Amino acid sequence: MLNSKKILLCVTGGIAVYKAVDLASKFTKLGAEVRTIMTTSACEFVSPLTFKSITHQKVVTKMFDPEADIEHISLADWADIVVIAPATANIIGKIAGGIADDLLSTTIMATTAPVLIVPAMNIHMYENPIVQQNIKKLSDLGYLFMEPEYGKLACGYEGKGRFPKTVEICYFTKTFLDHKRDLLKQNILITAGANIENIDPMRFISNRSSGKMGLALARAAHIRGAKVKFVHAKVLVEIPEYIDAVETLTAQEMYDAVIQEFPNDDIIFKTAAVADFTPANKAENKIKKDKSMSLELTRTKDILAELGKQKTKNQILIGFAAESEDIIDNARKKLKAKNLDFIVANDLKVAGNDNTSVTLIDKNSETKIEGDKFAVANLILDEIIGSRSE
Ligand SMILES: Cc1cc2nc3c(=O)[nH]c(=O)nc-3n(C[C@H](O)[C@H](O)[C@H](O)COP(=O)(O)O)c2cc1C
Repeated sequence: MLNSKKILLCVTGGIAVYKAVDLASKFTKLGAEVRTIMTTSACEFVSPLTFKSITHQKVVTKMFDPEADIEHISLADWADIVVIAPATANIIGKIAGGIADDLLSTTIMATTAPVLIVPAMNIHMYENPIVQQNIKKLSDLGYLFMEPEYGKLACGYEGKGRFPKTVEICYFTKTFLDHKRDLLKQNILITAGANIENIDPMRFISNRSSGKMGLALARAAHIRGAKVKFVHAKVLVEIPEYIDAVETLTAQEMYDAVIQEFPNDDIIFKTAAVADFTPANKAENKIKKDKSMSLELTRTKDILAELGKQKTKNQILIGFAAESEDIIDNARKKLKAKNLDFIVANDLKVAGNDNTSVTLIDKNSETKIEGDKFAVANLILDEIIGSRSE
């Protein structure tokens, strides 16, 4: 997924340096070529040899080495993307102040590649107005940031400052290699997962939706700068801390949450497999198994059809159609019947997998998109953003 991408990993002297070893390992396993620069402070925490052994590439720490190339220029030019992880308060301040007094800071000054900065530090350091001003200044200049996570910090405090999960840093890196923050100021609503409709306190009706495609879209849209609201039912995936999630259970709860949120949104993806039916009577106590029974079901509200009716001309509504036969024809019928702008048709046979093959359909065209769900999510977003500029 990062095949042949050239990642320059810049490691500065925070306690999270040991986690950057795992990041280097993940980048390498995803197929990237990873070269590492470490500051003198970073080398106090982990030896350069560790990164060299993991990445099988060179690790440089010194600016003035008579045996080496002029590394700050050659590495700056070589990189497809630069990832500073962990980024200390010190390096953020140095970049914001235009300081280039060691190999790492001079390379950042010299590169024209996108630079992703992953701060990790004590909460009071992170909240210090100087650090915040430096982050704002650099963001305005086009430097890319990942927010630290909330949690127990190595210094003993609890708060925002933790190094993010390395898998999430990989998603950010992948996105910024091929895409920009082109969804700023966009409100995007995404529904995902499988509703749970209770029969009795123990038993329920549900479906096989994993929520993976919806979460991939939420992740990609968030990373590209959108304000994402993720209204979900049961999902088989961990929702990252940075996603603004609303948990619902039944189709009715999801309907209520979506109808309330919908007027604020510019783009709406309905990936949830909403329950079409719910038991007409929900038993308060567990139903005894001693006799046979038949279950009466009633129709739930059709959320997508309702949104199609309420939609204004500035909103883009995208439905999903998981079908097991006549996939494209059935999806086209749904596009028309529910007044959608796009529909993503996919084959039920691949539901739940990490990879997918979908067809994005609007009234004029059909675009086939294949790959892992995160890559597919980014490509769907490209098509939808493209349709607006036409
Ligand atoms: C044990 C220890 C842990 C540290 N952890 C952090 C940290 O997580 N984040 C941070 O910004 N600075 C941290 N520092 C302070 C930096 O190491 C210090 O500001 C240093 O000058 C950074 O240098 P560099 O940015 O060139 O790597 C820590 C220092 C020590 C001694």
